[in-house]
Amino acid sequence: MDPGKQLHVAVVGVGGVGTQVVEQLIANPNYGFHLVALTSSKRMLKSTKDACINPVAWRDALDSSETPVDLSVVKSTLQELVKQGEKTLFIDNTSSQDVAELYPALLSAGINVVTPNKKAFSGEVVLYQGIVQASRSGRYLHESTVGAGLPIISTLRDLVETGDKIVKIEGVFSGTMSYIFNNYSSVEGSHESFSSIVKGARAQGYTEPNPADDLNGADVARKLTILARIIPEMKDEQGNFPLLHGYQSVETTSLIQAAPPSAVSNGDEFMRWLPEQDAHFAQMREQAANEGNVLRYVGVVDVKNKVVKAELAKYPKTHPFATSLGGSDNIIMFHTERYGKRPLIVQGAGAGNDVTAMGVVSDVLKLIRP
Ligand SMILES: NC(=O)c1ccc[n+]([C@@H]2O[C@H](COP(=O)([O-])OP(=O)(O)OC[C@H]3O[C@@H](n4cnc5c(N)ncnc54)[C@H](OP(=O)(O)O)[C@@H]3O)[C@@H](O)[C@H]2O)c1
Repeated sequence: MDPGKQLHVAVVGVGGVGTQVVEQLIANPNYGFHLVALTSSKRMLKSTKDACINPVAWRDALDSSETPVDLSVVKSTLQELVKQGEKTLFIDNTSSQDVAELYPALLSAGINVVTPNKKAFSGEVVLYQGIVQASRSGRYLHESTVGAGLPIISTLRDLVETGDKIVKIEGVFSGTMSYIFNNYSSVEGSHESFSSIVKGARAQGYTEPNPADDLNGADVARKLTILARIIPEMKDEQGNFPLLHGYQSVETTSLIQAAPPSAVSNGDEFMRWLPEQDAHFAQMREQAANEGNVLRYVGVVDVKNKVVKAELAKYPKTHPFATSLGGSDNIIMFHTERYGKRPLIVQGAGAGNDVTAMGVVSDVLKLIRP
């Protein structure tokens, strides 16, 4: 193996996505990955001088490990390798805010960071600024934070860095919302109640355990924050990044505004409450259909007007958001000066462990390629 091609990797979080990430790294035919450490939220497995992590039996070894997780140890191990001139990488496959807050220190130490975790890029601007500043020493890539494995962030960066001007980004960013409204408000016409569609989506695992966490629009607002901060024209006159409080600064239409606190905090309570909303949604669906439209929950970054919003909107039955979505697809339209009247469109599965891991591993390969 060409030593220049070796990358020392710590993988934090080996749940649905993280397991696929480890398997895709191990199976890669072209590059050698030295697994420095693997962790769940409780346990940790570390390579030592005498024994590397076994790529075949890593799961059993981690499950039986008695070493409690300590991310400061993971950091110092990677830091030692950086001092020896080696290339290192910290992959965060958790959804943890605490882990996200480690990125500035990791990057400052020359450790690269790759992650599908949205928290660091969609929260308070202070953390985001810290990451951007620290990236002079280490690089960070986070393709899978928007659209899972779909090339959304890399496309946006390519447009921006080649001098195109973004006019507007508009899309269906949530796989769950996509599934719900593709079924609830189809071009052919639908009659099933809103609560029944959500119940089906929950049963098939398309929603969070409490669908309130999908229907409040926060996940879409997080993705919009991530994109808006990459667009230079979204900065203010002083050059500050937009959306001071991250997703909480996005104009977000929650679909569960009327939900009582007990339903917001408990999935089963939420499902018992939801039928009360069926008449309200049915009225919106009927009105949209009478006008030749369907309902879609979309996110918009309107650069010209500096508006970032997540909302339930009406689209003509001939629009790609109405005609071309299936299952839990995401679809994102980039309206730019170069692309003129015909926007650049990226569409495909917006969730799933294997495609999300593909986005993570493709970021890893970007770091390792000469
Ligand atoms: N699944 C998708 O389709 C998808 C799509 C796009 C983005 N993402 C993002 O990908 C990330 C992972 O998602 P997932 O579905 O794989 O989640 P998951 O199955 O819940 O796995 C999360 C993993 O992180 C570990 N973990 C949690 N907190 C930790 C901490 N403080 N320190 C160390 N490890 C910790 C968990 O350990 P335990 O096993 O001990 O609990 C688990 O191994 C999330 O940020 C998610 O938003 C997922």
